[in-house]
Amino acid sequence: MRIKEDQKFRNLFWIVDGKKQLATKSIAPGHRVYDEIVRQIKREEYRIWNPYRSKLAAAIYKGLKNFPFRRGTKVLYLGIASGTTASHVSDVIEDDGIIFGVEIAHRVLRDLLGVAKVRRNIVPIMESARRPQSYSWIVSEVDVVYEDVAQPDQASILVKNADIFLRKGGVAMIAVKASSIDVTLPPKKVYRLVEKEVTSTGRYKLLETVDLSPYDPKHAMMVFRKL
Ligand SMILES: C[S@@+](CC[C@H](N)C(=O)[O-])C[C@H]1O[C@@H](n2cnc3c(N)ncnc32)[C@H](O)[C@@H]1O
Repeated sequence: MRIKEDQKFRNLFWIVDGKKQLATKSIAPGHRVYDEIVRQIKREEYRIWNPYRSKLAAAIYKGLKNFPFRRGTKVLYLGIASGTTASHVSDVIEDDGIIFGVEIAHRVLRDLLGVAKVRRNIVPIMESARRPQSYSWIVSEVDVVYEDVAQPDQASILVKNADIFLRKGGVAMIAVKASSIDVTLPPKKVYRLVEKEVTSTGRYKLLETVDLSPYDPKHAMMVFRKL
């Protein structure tokens, strides 16, 4: 078994063991977040990042060019759920970074509280991402807004939050579920509608759209830069 850091992105690793699997180095060894596979290598614990469980991992496997997370990155995460994806981001940004995690559902938030107990860089916020003013007292300016809420108005939720919290030059990422927006349209058309809604504000530029099939069919990761 060999491990190597990604050539482009710091703090992302590939474990090569016949196959090649994406992993992050755990900042909370001994604590699993979901049923992820864990590997001990040279006294460090690495958590395999499953692309079928996380759209961000799927995007990396599909050749994402803009991965805006590194040590110290400040993140606003909309729709953090129980922290599956966020826990890997938490590993990447380490203790110098912070994730403000907004989630509306009580049940998953309860699980997230357990995760945040051992991962001190995650701040759970029980609120609707449609009401950014309600958490503006706790969230500071961030480098990245990441959204995965699977709602019909997901593009407008992204803009609302990024307008308030994202620094100029920062990155806004959205995991678009085409069927949540319009089941009757082909997914590519839905992605173009999202692009239009976000860029027509004149404040964001599209950097890339990554189709997530076969990991998550009819989903795309769209990445914007704030101008
Ligand atoms: C697809 S799941 C997120 C999975 C998670 N991002 C991950 O990869 O680990 C979508 C989440 O968005 C949450 N959600 C939906 N509408 C929301 C809203 N208005 N504000 C905050 N969270 C919302 C749901 O409760 C659900 O937990």
